[in-house]
Amino acid sequence: MKKLLAVLVLAAGVGPALAADVVGNPKAAQSKIEMCIGCHGIPGYKASFPEVYQVPMIGGQSAKYIESALHAYKKGDRKHPSMRGIATSLSDQDIADVAAYYSQQNGQSRK
Ligand code: HEC
Repeated sequence: MKKLLAVLVLAAGVGPALAADVVGNPKAAQSKIEMCIGCHGIPGYKASFPEVYQVPMIGGQSAKYIESALHAYKKGDRKHPSMRGIATSLSDQDIADVAAYYSQQNGQSRK
């Protein structure tokens, strides 16, 4: 698990930190969501750790919700250690992109 997180942090940590007016681009998210798939299943993928984690389905949730959840993990308002590790490695642009991407997934959403 530690190793997985280290890889994730390395993979994501290189993104540039961007400032205001961040607009999510679902296409740009393709490479970024690879690290989410192992835990959050998306249609066509199976969650890797179903027995270990209670992982919420994020596909189909609103972009605003996903975005604010990720910012909350980043700031520490939400405490889950795995998600905090992930969120702190994402730039604001990354967060906007993955939120835009996941909000368009609806195959297994819990709308
Ligand atoms: C190591 C496994 C793991 C990885 C990788 C992971 N997540 Fe999560 N995620 C979780 C778990 C477990 C929760 C539930 C945490 C909690 O209870 O607060 C969660 C919660 C969330 C939530 C809040 C959902 C809700 O309904 O409140 C969002 C949004 C989210 N993750 C997005 C992402 C994104 C985007 C990525 C990829 C950049 C990602 N996660 C990668 C395990 C993971």
